[in-house]
Amino acid sequence: MKRFEKQVVLITGAANGIGKACAQRFAEEGAFVACLDVTDELNENVASECRALGVEAIALHCDVTDKDNINQVVKTVMDKWGRIDVLVGSAGIYTGTPLVDVPEKQWQRTIDINLTGVFLTNQAVAPIMIAQKSGSVINISSMAGKTSWVASAEYSASKSGVIGLTRSVAMELAPYGATANAVCPGNTLTDMVRGVAAKVGALDGMTGEEWLAMRANDCPMKRVAEPWEIAGVVAFLASQDSRYLTGQAIEVDGGLIMS
Ligand SMILES: NC(=O)c1ccc[n+]([C@@H]2O[C@H](COP(=O)([O-])OP(=O)(O)OC[C@H]3O[C@@H](n4cnc5c(N)ncnc54)[C@H](O)[C@@H]3O)[C@@H](O)[C@H]2O)c1
Repeated sequence: MKRFEKQVVLITGAANGIGKACAQRFAEEGAFVACLDVTDELNENVASECRALGVEAIALHCDVTDKDNINQVVKTVMDKWGRIDVLVGSAGIYTGTPLVDVPEKQWQRTIDINLTGVFLTNQAVAPIMIAQKSGSVINISSMAGKTSWVASAEYSASKSGVIGLTRSVAMELAPYGATANAVCPGNTLTDMVRGVAAKVGALDGMTGEEWLAMRANDCPMKRVAEPWEIAGVVAFLASQDSRYLTGQAIEVDGGLIMS
């Protein structure tokens, strides 16, 4: 199935994990993909894998905390392809520090990347989608945006912020036929979650593997997610099948949070 033939998709955090899985999924379905990340070599590999699937793809250095960098990258994409149909905001970090030990600088860095980065990228593409009278914004929040656990103060705050921000973006885009939704993954097997497992597990005397096994056991489906399972939902939210779906924060967590 090729639902996105020649559509232009911008993905932040495309070099790894969920962003990379999204780049592969959109390329498989015929989209032109702009891969945005701060990790240039891995990002170039992802763009090259997309091109090997027969689509156009470029890797662009983009720090989502840098407004000038974002605007320059968006201009590059518009000069090349003349439109932006989909924005996936997947760039993010997790630190895993207990509240009493979180330095203010670390709090601010997490908010800057996970929340302000989403704000700046959404702000940069919104005028384009408004002018086109079409488009899909999909911001990657987290189950931590809806619930919390230890050592996640700044992460949870940033991810709850993404949900509120996405609702507001959805309200402003809706009259123009464009949508904005958040996706809230549960534990998903990426480098980030391996880091989380090692750090948060250690707080409870567990290895990373033990912590991940515990998280899988807590989940009704008794396993963690693979990145492609998140990418599939992102693709649905960018597709024509979800044109009347906006302002939602959708849990993709094997049934961990049911609301
Ligand atoms: N893996 C999980 O279990 C999980 C669960 C819920 C939500 N999430 C969210 O999904 C998103 C992707 O996470 P992942 O697990 O794929 O992580 P990951 O670490 O594998 O990938 C994150 C990517 O973001 C990039 N990045 C970091 N800072 C950046 C910046 N300032 N500008 C541009 N790019 C930057 C990194 O270079 C990396 O390529 C994140 O927003 C994360 O919070 C992940």
